[in-house]
Amino acid sequence: MEKIKRHSLSVRFVHWSVAISTFLCIFSGFGQMPVYKRYKIDQLPGLAWTSDFSVTLLIHYIAAIVLIFAVAYHIVYHLIRKEFSILPRRGDFKESYQIIKAMLTGGEEPESDKYLAEQRLAYAYIAVMLILIIITGIIKVLKNLPAVSLEMNTLTAVSAVHNAATMLLILGIVGHLAAFLFKANRPLLPSMFTGMVDKEYARHRHSIWYRRLQQKNDKS
Ligand code: HEM
Ligand code: HEM
Repeated sequence: MEKIKRHSLSVRFVHWSVAISTFLCIFSGFGQMPVYKRYKIDQLPGLAWTSDFSVTLLIHYIAAIVLIFAVAYHIVYHLIRKEFSILPRRGDFKESYQIIKAMLTGGEEPESDKYLAEQRLAYAYIAVMLILIIITGIIKVLKNLPAVSLEMNTLTAVSAVHNAATMLLILGIVGHLAAFLFKANRPLLPSMFTGMVDKEYARHRHSIWYRRLQQKNDKS
């Protein structure tokens, strides 16, 4: 089966460093709330460290640094290259409804560009949650500095946003992975590992993107 390039090495580097650091932040973040001792996770073989606050805090900080780097790299990289194809567009909610309806009923999907309308919305949702978490996270780090003192109410509010955005992000990730349960989306899965996608799938499902690639090839 002929393949075409869908994701550069940069995009795949960003995706997996965001995904892995996010999974580590979620696991170590819950470690900050002493749930692993309460639910005896730390009794499981090899997991005694999970109830050691200083260990989970260190993991949280290291994963947080990787996450912030990957997010900054992502923004600068696409700004420099003026690549905005993943940003939401007018009508994306309606188009997402039509695509999901077509996937559930076996009907005809509307024409799509590189990313489907619901992918652009998923991106925006996950981006907003990550930005909220990063901003509140930085405030939570700063409050630990001797020179910084914040009002109790402010701190409570900041932690509440950090935790609420965490829960909403987890929902977003479950939705993101559930999208691959749909057979129609399966051909996209290998593309974030190999960078390549099936040519016929792209020509049929991402026809606007495929035509643009063809025109670019014709010109070059
Ligand atoms: C996807 C990313 C992240 C998730 C899911 C996450 C989740 C959490 C959770 C659940 C807690 C426990 C909150 C509590 O005790 O009420 C926590 C604590 C914390 N997080 Fe995050 N976090 C993330 C990223 C970050 C980032 C990027 C930073 C810093 C820039 C950060 C800084 C902190 C700090 C300082 C604490 C408090 C540690 C303490 O108790 O002293 N987090 N995080
Ligand atoms: C914290 C975990 C993760 C986050 C925050 C995340 C986020 C994203 C975002 C925002 C996109 C672009 C929009 C979209 O296609 O929805 C994306 C694309 C993608 N993700 Fe993830 N992802 C995560 C984990 C995973 C995992 C575990 C897998 C696979 C096992 C995966 C597979 C993919 C694939 C295949 C694409 C490309 C879709 C395309 O080519 O259009 N992601 N991811």
